[in-house]
Amino acid sequence: MTLVYLLTFLLSIASFTLTLCNGNLVHLPCKENERQTLLMFKKDLNDSSNMISSWDGEGDCCNWTGVTCSNLTGHVHELHLAGYLDEVTGENRKLGGKVNPSLLNLKHLSHLDLSHNYFEGL
Ligand SMILES: *[C@@H]1O[C@H](CO)[C@@H](O)[C@H](O)[C@H]1NC(C)=O
Ligand SMILES: *[C@@H]1O[C@H](CO)[C@@H](O)[C@H](O)[C@H]1NC(C)=O
Ligand SMILES: *[C@@H]1O[C@H](CO)[C@@H](O)[C@H](O)[C@H]1NC(C)=O
Repeated sequence: MTLVYLLTFLLSIASFTLTLCNGNLVHLPCKENERQTLLMFKKDLNDSSNMISSWDGEGDCCNWTGVTCSNLTGHVHELHLAGYLDEVTGENRKLGGKVNPSLLNLKHLSHLDLSHNYFEGL
């Protein structure tokens, strides 16, 4: 009888741990300082074509358009911000304005695509 209780107890710990691990792997929220950096970067951009309109103050920045975070650390790893033709609306989505040097604060960035845009002074 005691053994059954013990087993049940161990099993419930195991499944609890498993849930915790899965939760962490599936969704790490983005880092607050990286969110601020992305917002600062956006501030100097001309996003008149609404390419990165999902970038606002609220929510998880790993979930913003073009932003990819590591699912192990939660740091922003990649920015895919190339201009493109929206096949659905026929609109050209591109970014203009200035590239704010704050982008250099993203220490874990390993991929940055800003092609097909129209930045000043680049
Ligand atoms: C942003 O870009 C659009 C499209 O090129 C342009 O019409 C607009 O004047 C620009 N806005 C600013 C504030 O530079
Ligand atoms: C991103 O966040 C929005 C708003 O919080 C949510 O509705 C959406 O489902 C999220 N998308 C992903 C891929 O997590
Ligand atoms: C991160 O998540 C992606 C997509 O869910 C998956 O393909 C990839 O293997 C994961 N990487 C790691 C290191 O867990």
